[in-house]
Amino acid sequence: METPQRSDPDTITARLSSLLTLSLGALSLLRSVQAFDASTVDVFGPVTIFDPPENYTVPRTLYARTLLLNQDCETNNVLLATWENYLPNNDSHPYTPIYQSYDGGKSWSERSRVYDQVNGWGLRYQPFLYELSQSFGHYSAGTVLLAVNSIPDDLSETQIDLYASKDKGHTWKFVSHIAHGGEALPDNGLTPVWEPFLMEYNNSLVCYYSDQRDPAHGQKLVHQVTTDLVHWGSIVNDVAYSNYTFRPGMTTVVQLANGSYIMTYEFYGAVEADFAVYYRINDNPLDFNNSPGQALISIDGTVPVSSPYVVWTPSGGPLGTIAVSCGTYSEIFLNHASGAPGAWIKAETQEPISYTRSLRVLPNENRILIAGGGVLSGTNNSVTASVVDISYSPAGPKLAQCSKKGKQYQA
Ligand SMILES: *[C@@H]1O[C@H](CO)[C@@H](O)[C@H](O)[C@H]1NC(C)=O
Ligand SMILES: *[C@@H]1O[C@H](CO)[C@@H](O)[C@H](O)[C@H]1NC(C)=O
Ligand SMILES: *[C@@H]1O[C@H](CO)[C@@H](O)[C@H](O)[C@H]1NC(C)=O
Ligand SMILES: *[C@@H]1O[C@H](CO)[C@@H](O)[C@H](O)[C@H]1NC(C)=O
Ligand SMILES: *[C@@H]1O[C@H](CO)[C@@H](O)[C@H](O)[C@H]1NC(C)=O
Ligand SMILES: *[C@@H]1O[C@H](CO)[C@@H](O)[C@H](O)[C@H]1NC(C)=O
Repeated sequence: METPQRSDPDTITARLSSLLTLSLGALSLLRSVQAFDASTVDVFGPVTIFDPPENYTVPRTLYARTLLLNQDCETNNVLLATWENYLPNNDSHPYTPIYQSYDGGKSWSERSRVYDQVNGWGLRYQPFLYELSQSFGHYSAGTVLLAVNSIPDDLSETQIDLYASKDKGHTWKFVSHIAHGGEALPDNGLTPVWEPFLMEYNNSLVCYYSDQRDPAHGQKLVHQVTTDLVHWGSIVNDVAYSNYTFRPGMTTVVQLANGSYIMTYEFYGAVEADFAVYYRINDNPLDFNNSPGQALISIDGTVPVSSPYVVWTPSGGPLGTIAVSCGTYSEIFLNHASGAPGAWIKAETQEPISYTRSLRVLPNENRILIAGGGVLSGTNNSVTASVVDISYSPAGPKLAQCSKKGKQYQA
């Protein structure tokens, strides 16, 4: 797909600064061989990260996640990607693929495969990658983590496990069990756990996830905290509605310019729409249960639905920009006012709709990498990525087609 050409002053500034960065990059190349300078990456996409062979089990791929390595000079700006990978013949021991890009997301190749080392079930759903910026226990800053749902062939159990790589994702070792749950189906009354999301806070590592084990809630959102990656603290609620049938799902969290944290989630039970994207803001990311939830509604009235992902970038003004993706629009939703309601605008992207697309702010903070693994009903999914420039979009609100909404969404 072609990238729209624009020539507003922001674009010109961005081009000038990328020219500048290029010549600086050339200088440092003279000094030594450097990792690729992703700050020079322009907008592009969608490009294919992985196109599964036809014998893959439908839906083939889903749930793409990425990581920008930035803790060690020699690997800075290398991108990693992972996704749910449905092997041929319902292979009973699925692994988590780790792909790599050395050119800012334009081209990708396999780096490693993470196999289940402890349960004998495979690593099946909802992988999430994270790079430590400080040490925890025996794991130094720069360690790459994978939180993932290990699930047996018959889907009878769910186990969110933590793996660590001390060589930037080439080799992996099991670290700890985080949360164990029951049958891996998103039905009320069953007791699975889903969708881990990792974030450092206050010298701890937080694992947020969706939890169906509490008999008072069809599903709620919770977190647990560790300081050594091995021992995990007690379960703390983040979103737990009193109506049993309500199902908040899919936590992602990021810190804003004013110090507060924003959490986005999908909310089955919302008055706006089933699985409407909701958010909460709190100074303390361990205390979202005491913040009111509100629907994310853009100024043109659009209600994004399903499987959100939130990031923040310093680009776009004194308060930076919050960007949120959802499962029903190709557009992303931007807020330049620390999440104030009534300040959400819709920005076009060239990345197609996917179930739980992920966002990643690149070293050029005007740029966001969007990665998608296809849709839940997809029979021919592949994993794709696009880089968008949030500094000059959108020209104006433009209504897009809502592809699908409703109860087919997992968890
Ligand atoms: C699936 O297809 C690929 C590519 O055609 C092939 O290499 C692989 O052996 C096949 N796997 C199975 C289990 O049939
Ligand atoms: C794979 O397993 C799922 C869940 O058990 C089942 O619904 C599906 O029919 C299986 N597909 C194939 C191709 O065996
Ligand atoms: C940070 O952690 C320390 C040590 O566990 C604790 O005493 C303190 O209350 C925490 N602060 C916040 C803001 O969570
Ligand atoms: C809970 O929500 C459902 C809609 O999902 C509604 O039909 C029901 O009346 C609510 N129950 C209570 C006790 O409010
Ligand atoms: C940051 O801004 C948001 C949105 O206006 C607000 O809810 C929050 O309280 C602010 N946080 C601080 C620490 O001022
Ligand atoms: C499946 O998707 C690939 C691109 O990922 C495309 O080349 C191919 O034509 C599609 N096949 C079908 C049957 O739609």
